[in-house]
Amino acid sequence: MSETVTSRLAGFHKLPMDERLAQLARMFRLSPGDLEQLRGTEALQPVLANQMIENAVGTFSLPLGLGLNLQVNGRDYLVPMAVEEPSVVAAVSFAAKIVREAGGFIAEADESMMIGQIQVTRYGDPTEATEKILAHKEQILALANSFHPAMVARGGGAKDVEVRVLPAPEGPRGEPLLVVHVLIDTQEAMGANLINTVAEGVAPLVEQITGGKVYLRILSNLADRRLSRATCRIPLSLLADFEMPGEVIAEGIAQASRFAEADPYRAATHNKGVMNGIDSVAIATGQDWRAIEAGAHAFACRGGQYRPLSTWYLEEGHLVGRIELPMALGMVGGPIKVHPGVQLALKLVRANSVRELSMVFAAVGLAQNFAALRALGSIGIQKGHMALHARCVAVTAGARGDWVEKLADLLVKAGHVKVEKAREILASLSAEDAAAATGTTL
Ligand code: MEV
Repeated sequence: MSETVTSRLAGFHKLPMDERLAQLARMFRLSPGDLEQLRGTEALQPVLANQMIENAVGTFSLPLGLGLNLQVNGRDYLVPMAVEEPSVVAAVSFAAKIVREAGGFIAEADESMMIGQIQVTRYGDPTEATEKILAHKEQILALANSFHPAMVARGGGAKDVEVRVLPAPEGPRGEPLLVVHVLIDTQEAMGANLINTVAEGVAPLVEQITGGKVYLRILSNLADRRLSRATCRIPLSLLADFEMPGEVIAEGIAQASRFAEADPYRAATHNKGVMNGIDSVAIATGQDWRAIEAGAHAFACRGGQYRPLSTWYLEEGHLVGRIELPMALGMVGGPIKVHPGVQLALKLVRANSVRELSMVFAAVGLAQNFAALRALGSIGIQKGHMALHARCVAVTAGARGDWVEKLADLLVKAGHVKVEKAREILASLSAEDAAAATGTTL
C-alpha cells in the first residue's frame, strides 16, 4: 500500500455501499476475504467467539463506518469507526475536513508507560517502609523484568518504582495506605496482562522488604504517564456557516469550552462527545474501550474537579483546540490477532505504531468535540441529528431500499421525525409505491 492513500474521498457518502467497498478495495488492495469481512459474511465466527469469552451464545454486530478527511502530523488516515449512533462518523469527517484545510491536526504521544499498583498494609512506619522500598528499587525492577525478558530485550519493561503514602480512609483502620507503583513500558501492547503479572510477581519481594502484607496487585487505568495530545488551529474564515461569520461560530465554540471548564455537569456531556469518536475507533480496532473510558474520566478529575478533556479558545484570528488524555492502546495482544475485523480495521488505519495510533485517537476525539460544539454554540444539534435519526425512523416504520432516504427527507421536511408520521406517509402512498417502499410484493 502506498503513501498516496488519501482520507479525502469526495462524494464517498453518496456512493452505494458496494461502490464504497470497491473504492476501498482498490486503495488498500483488499482481498476478497477482506471484502467479505466488511460485508459481514466473514464476521467473527461463533467458534472464535466461543474461545474469546465464556457462555458464548453468538456474536453481535455494529455498523462500521469510515471517518474521512483526517490528517494528523501531515499524514492522512481513514478511521474505521464501529458505532450505533447516527452522526458520529459524519461529524468526525466534517470536522476533519475543516481542520485539514487549516493544516491538519498536530499530535504527540508519550511512551507506553503504564502503572502497576501494589497495595501494602501492616508495614509499620510509612517513612521507613518507603525508604526500604526505594533502597531496593533495582532488585524490584530486576525481578519485575525477569517475567518479560522479550519485552526487556525490545527496550521495554519495568523502568521505575515509586511509593505513595495516602491518608487512611475514614473508619477504624487508621493505617495510612502504602501503594507501590511499578512503571512499565509496555511498548506496542496495552499491557494489562503483562502489568498484572509483574505486580503479582514482585508482591512477595515487597512483603519481604517491608515486612508488610500485600493485598491488591493490579494495573491502574489512570494511565497518566501514557498521554496523547492533539491540537488544531483554524482560521476563523474557515468556520463561517449557517449564514453566520466565522467569528460568531468560533465564539460559540469558545463559550461552550468555558461552560465545560466551569461546570462538571456540562463537562460530562462535553467529554461524552469526545468519547463518541474515541470509543468508536477503539471498538473497531479491538481496544479495551472500558479502560480508555476509565482513564479518560479519572484524568478529567485530576485537579479535584471534573473538567473537559478538550478546550477551545480564540487566538490571533484563529480558533485553537487542544485535547489531552490517557491512551492505553495496543497493537498486539488482546483480541487483535484473533478478531479478523480488528486486523482489517488496523490495516485501514495504517498506523505504524501504537503511539501513532494513539495520536489518531486523540485527533478523532478533538474532531468529534469540534463538530458538536460548533453546532451547539450556534444552531443547536437537533437539526443535524434529526436528519440522520430520520433514516432510523424510516426503517423502523418499514421503509426499505431507496425509500429509506426518500421517507427520511419527507419526515425532515414535515418537521416531524416520528415513526407514526412515517407510517402515515407510507399509508398515504399508492399500493404500488407502498409495496416498493416497504420491499413487499403486491
Ligand atoms: C451526543 O452523543 C454528544 C453531545 O451531547 C456532545 C456535547 O454535548 O458536546 C452532542
